[in-house]
Amino acid sequence: MQPLESGWLLLASSYPTPGRNRMPDPTIVLAGATGHLGGKIAAALRTRGADVRALVRPGTASEKLDPLRQLGVSILTVDPTSLPAMTEACRGAACVVSALSGLRAAIVDAQTILLNAAVAAGVPRFIPSDFAADFTKVAPGANRNFDLRRDFMARLDAAPIAATSVFNGAFADILTGVAPIILFKVKRVVYWADADQLMDFTTMDNVATYTAAAALDPTTPRFLRIAGDQISARGLATVMSEVSGVPYRLLRPGGLGTLATIIKVTRTLVPASQDIYPPWQGMQYLHNMFSGDAKLKPLDNDRYPGMRWESARAVLAAHLKNL
Ligand SMILES: NC(=O)c1ccc[n+]([C@@H]2O[C@H](COP(=O)([O-])OP(=O)(O)OC[C@H]3O[C@@H](n4cnc5c(N)ncnc54)[C@H](OP(=O)(O)O)[C@@H]3O)[C@@H](O)[C@H]2O)c1
Repeated sequence: MQPLESGWLLLASSYPTPGRNRMPDPTIVLAGATGHLGGKIAAALRTRGADVRALVRPGTASEKLDPLRQLGVSILTVDPTSLPAMTEACRGAACVVSALSGLRAAIVDAQTILLNAAVAAGVPRFIPSDFAADFTKVAPGANRNFDLRRDFMARLDAAPIAATSVFNGAFADILTGVAPIILFKVKRVVYWADADQLMDFTTMDNVATYTAAAALDPTTPRFLRIAGDQISARGLATVMSEVSGVPYRLLRPGGLGTLATIIKVTRTLVPASQDIYPPWQGMQYLHNMFSGDAKLKPLDNDRYPGMRWESARAVLAAHLKNL
């Protein structure tokens, strides 16, 4: 390891030398590259020819770094709390992309240092770690994780840098078990209030590919809204019946008022306030989805050619095949 300046270390630097008659590939700085979505964004950026500089925390295990190295990503180990170190790490980038995940320490505090570093380094564009439903339409207090993103959004919008948030609804991947919507064992699809309310689902792969395209596009607007599929609980029940060959029926535990009460009670009894996704937080997402409050429209799916959107049907069929 080669110390460069106090606060940060260069682990590996392999910026390709551009050919004689070739413009250098744009450099995209990526925070959160060791995470699920971040790793996929890194891969998608490399596929599109970008130089990717991943900022990782000191002490990051080599198992997390090896896949990035294999992609040809340059890895900088940098103290995320050091503005001078982060500023040096952002220098020369065409865009800073954040795929950080966490509570206030990550979404507000770490992203604010990343933002200030990007501004100080003269980076023209910033993509925050939003990757959710359209929380700008959700009332403050209705979703703790959205409130954190809204807090950071206020700082981002006050900063002299062009920002683009990618809104993708829920990751379609969560339909295979994480989200309490499809109950595979009892062959039920849960809905609250309205079985026909459409919900937005986009696979993590699609989100990563689209975000990479957006990172390399200097003309992005403030918001980009995408959905690989828009489907209701009733639609999911039909899809599950068709792909499994077994009837899936709808299950209505109650309306949105009942869900709100359950959220309140669960949050009081089991606060787990340091977890990113305690049960009540998951239920807050469900409330936002089934109320239609955070529904995405209009969609920007067609902005980049060559995107192959993955449907909920495809995700669920693949899941059943692999069981
Ligand atoms: N719409 C949806 O359904 C949905 C579902 C899941 C996630 N998401 C969103 O997708 C984004 C990425 O989530 P993910 O699941 O890919 O996250 P993840 O796998 O948990 O990765 C989180 C990343 O953030 C880094 N990190 C966490 N706290 C940090 C801090 N304080 N300072 C610096 N780095 C920090 C981690 O670094 P280390 O490796 O050093 O820990 C890691 O690289 C988030 O915005 C998340 O909310 C959306």
